[in-house]
Parts: sequence; structure tokens; C-alpha cells
Amino acid sequence: MSLITKIGSIDIRNPLILASGVMGTSYSTLQRIYNGGVGAVVTKSIGLNSRKGNPNPSVFALNEIRSAINSVGLANPGYQVFREDVEILVKNHVPTIVSIFGENENEFSEILNGLKDFPVLAFELNLSCPNTEKGGIQIGTDSEAVFQIVKRLKSETEVPLWVKLTPNVSDVIEIAEAAVNGGCDALVAINTLKAMVIDIHTKQPILGFKKGGLSGAAIKPIGVRYIYDLYERFEDRIPLIGAGGIMSGEDVIEYLLAGASAVQIGTALGVAYPENMIKFFISKIKKYMRENEFKSISEITGGAH
Ligand SMILES: Cc1cc2nc3c(=O)[nH]c(=O)nc-3n(C[C@H](O)[C@H](O)[C@H](O)COP(=O)(O)O)c2cc1C
Repeated sequence: MSLITKIGSIDIRNPLILASGVMGTSYSTLQRIYNGGVGAVVTKSIGLNSRKGNPNPSVFALNEIRSAINSVGLANPGYQVFREDVEILVKNHVPTIVSIFGENENEFSEILNGLKDFPVLAFELNLSCPNTEKGGIQIGTDSEAVFQIVKRLKSETEVPLWVKLTPNVSDVIEIAEAAVNGGCDALVAINTLKAMVIDIHTKQPILGFKKGGLSGAAIKPIGVRYIYDLYERFEDRIPLIGAGGIMSGEDVIEYLLAGASAVQIGTALGVAYPENMIKFFISKIKKYMRENEFKSISEITGGAH
């Protein structure tokens, strides 16, 4: 039995990947999560320039539903400062996926070209940034923009490009098709869902930015549905990476059965000892594989279809 997981041309030691954002951009926390046992890590999304992000509170736990709401936004140090962290990550052989965001094609291209000399595993395109030139609509909701960005970046690097899909669209297949036609190497679904919480005593939104994105257990059935729909559309023509509400080994298996080749875990690892969580995940996956006589992760992928 092997947990080695293939995502297109890439092999990682198991199907668990740290999702973008929860552990930031600094090499030490990312390295810690890798040492804790995941197959690879995704950095918080990196942009052109440093951004402070939104006012506090920017993350709020919704413990009763094992979920969280955040408005961290795109706080990051900018790609030039981030180069120091990525240099250490690759020197220490941490399989790293660098998440990048931009307002338009040129911004994405500048960041990619500023980082592409590092032997990272992949670049993940976070398309959740609003495009001010187009009246602030999110790039990830505009299929033509998605196609153009992916096509352009694909012509500028040999490093695999993953596209992370936002669930905040009416037709995710249309956006996914644009990314696939542009030449992306894998699709990641899903990012957080638009959400909000209001304190009934102060009668005000709880987050400093008022509105935010929902993650954690509450969004798992939505993520599973997206992966199921994407697998139905593309079958094994494009690797799918499931994300959203993975809190246990069982959740990982559910995403694999829906059609994912690997998964990303965010909120569940934002705890004091993420290493313990990762161990539980892995032992549950192994137990399930033994009980069901699966020899490899790829045998589980798409099994629910
Ligand atoms: C605090 C926080 C920050 C996040 N930052 C990013 C980010 O910078 N880029 C990105 O693509 N996704 C970001 N995400 C979304 C996660 O990568 C993931 O897609 C989402 O949280 C669903 O997975 P989960 O339910 O396991 O957390 C963030 C999520 C959280 C909770």
C-alpha cells in the first residue's frame, strides 16, 4: 500500500497539502507543517507589493459549526521580500506550491517571473483578487480573463500551474473550462464562500472588514459537490485538488471518492498542534485503504461516480 500521490507530472508523499493562507508566508511555519507529515505546502497568496490586509478582528472562530470566518484578505509581504522564504523552503527540500494573485495579467506575470527561478512544485493562481480596471469584479468570475491569464503564464514557465476556483460564481464549470483551455495543470476547489456574522448585542458585524469568507466543516458538502461536478465534466483529463472543510481522514476519503487526486487542508490545521491532526488523518486513510484493499490513492479517486 502506498500513499504516494500523483498530481499530473508531480509526485508527493501523501495526498494532504496545506491550503493557502492559514499558515502565512514565512518559511518556519510552512516547514513545521511539512515536518508534521503533509505531502506539500501552499504559501499564503503573494502579490506584487506588500499589503497590510484588513482591520482586526480578521478571523473569527465559529466553534459551534467547526468553522471560521475570515477577512484576512490578501495581506502579504510582496514577492520580492517573500523570495527569502521561498529560497529557504526549496533549500530545505520542502515541496512548496507558491500561491500568487494579481489584479490583471501583467501583475500575475511580473510575480511569476520574479519567482520562477526557484524549483517550486507548482504555482497556484488565486483568482479572488478584484480587478479595479473592470469595476472591481473578481478575476475568478470572468472566464475570458481566466483563459488569458492562464495562457500567458503557461507560455512563461515550465513550472506546473494550478488554478484555484472560487465557489462564488453561478457556473464553476465555465470558469474551469477557461482555465483548462488556457493550459492549466490542475484545478483546486474550493476557496472560501462569501459570508458574514453579526453580533446581536452590539448590532454590528463582528469582522473589522464586516464581510468575509467561510471555511471549515460548514463548507465541506459544497466543496465535495464542486469536485464531483468537475470530475463529471473532466474525468481524468485534469487532476483535481479538493479543499473545503476537511476536518478528518474520512473527509479526505470523501473528496477522493468525489474525484480529487489530492486535498488541501486549511482551517483544521490552524490549531496549536497541527502535527497531531495530520497523524490522525494519515492513520485513518491507511486504515480505510487496508479495510477496502486499496493499494494506491489513485484507485480511490472518482470511486463515487
Ligand atoms: C485565515 C485564512 C486565510 C486564507 N488565505 C488564503 C489566501 O491567501 N489565498 C487563497 O487562495 N486561499 C486562502 N484561504 C482559503 C483556504 O486556502 C481554503 O481554500 C479554504 O479555507 C477552504 O478550506 P478549509 O475549509 O480547509 O479552510 C484562506 C483561508 C483562511 C481560513
